[in-house]
Amino acid sequence: MNILVLGSGGREHALAWAILQNPKCDRLICAPGNAGMEALAECADLDICDGGQVVEFCSDNAIDFVVIGPEAPLAAGVADALRAAGIACFGPSAAAARLEASKAFTKEICAAVNAPTAGYAHFTDAQAARAYIREQGAPIVIKADGLAAGKGVIIAMTEAEAEAAIDLMFGGEFGAAGAEVVIEEFMEGEEASFFVLVDGNTCLAIGTAQDHKRVGDGDTGPNTGGMGAYSPAPVLTNAIAEAAMAQIIHPTMAEMARRGMPYQGVLYAGLMIKDGQARLVEYNARFGDPECQVLMLRLGGQALDLMLACAEGRLQKMAVNWAEDHALCVVMAAQGYPGAYAKGSEIKGLEACPEDSAHMVFHAGTKAQAGRVLANGGRVLGITARGATLAEAQARAYGMVDRIDWPDGFCRRDIGWRAL
Ligand code: AMP
Ligand code: GLY
Repeated sequence: MNILVLGSGGREHALAWAILQNPKCDRLICAPGNAGMEALAECADLDICDGGQVVEFCSDNAIDFVVIGPEAPLAAGVADALRAAGIACFGPSAAAARLEASKAFTKEICAAVNAPTAGYAHFTDAQAARAYIREQGAPIVIKADGLAAGKGVIIAMTEAEAEAAIDLMFGGEFGAAGAEVVIEEFMEGEEASFFVLVDGNTCLAIGTAQDHKRVGDGDTGPNTGGMGAYSPAPVLTNAIAEAAMAQIIHPTMAEMARRGMPYQGVLYAGLMIKDGQARLVEYNARFGDPECQVLMLRLGGQALDLMLACAEGRLQKMAVNWAEDHALCVVMAAQGYPGAYAKGSEIKGLEACPEDSAHMVFHAGTKAQAGRVLANGGRVLGITARGATLAEAQARAYGMVDRIDWPDGFCRRDIGWRAL
């Protein structure tokens, strides 16, 4: 079978790596890809948000199955274009991807089925939003409605901070994403990520993870796309996962189907856990990055069978083959990230890192040039390892980090601390 993976991050390198573990894959193309994906597959220069171009490329290359990594092509309707052309694809329609693309939409679906989540109100007018904040008090959470590359959420500890956030959002800081604002109750607890495959009808939980969003050790400093992750997440016990399936995932997926927009793909639920109860923080319509790296290292080649079953409506007959293992990913980023950073520095020492079923260096922002690997983004490498315990996975991952010779990069030294 010929498979196309869309995206160029660490998440997509991990997906490509797992797909290649499965003998069903004859030919793999990644678009646009990065230096890591170039080392294991063909790469093609495509505008991955242009559904027409992706469909044409699939026809020209006899592609049987497309795996969509990031949210932008989902929101742009690339899955719809592929399905309309009769090409199997893993990823929700643009209508279903609104679970990530519109926070107000998700809150409304949750309210319709009584799924536990933070109380909220939705505003298109700054004055009414300010009045609501005064009524509710702080802490309170202000969110731009649309996609804002993970930066559209402000946790206001005081009313003054909340009102400043309102001014910022209605002042156009987030463009069209901020023209509508959701104001939410602040939820306390420990956050974890829950990954569920959905084929329109059946939901199958495939794993849990936790990521580290802050740039600095001890979870300090500004937010990032994620500086590391580990799986499983001990805080998300089986009992909590079962309750989250029954109270949150199943009802919202049934409501999506009832409204004529059945969800197909991976649903990533961010859960806030307190006193043994989970509440929904947000949905994402894709795998997390770097959570995908740890999930793929644990799932290996079965990930392709699961994604195919998801795309073909066969999930009911599938089960996940769990191993009693743990995986941990340390992200190496360019100095300066998440602020301004330079591109083009050389990364050495990669060949000194083992690459096998327990150790992988997943590439994110990298570029191959004349046999050298150059940094080409903010988050650059996801050093990922598996072990019988989380401590073993952590020791293996940092053992690889220490072999990498890249003075222009940095990483956190404490990934996994909460669970260890
Ligand atoms: P979101 O983009 O909705 O995931 O928000 C980004 C991050 O903000 C989440 O991962 C949480 O850490 C935090 N957050 C969002 N909503 C809330 C809430 N209602 N209460 C507490 N923290 C929240
Ligand atoms: N690591 C968080 C995300 O992918 O949204």
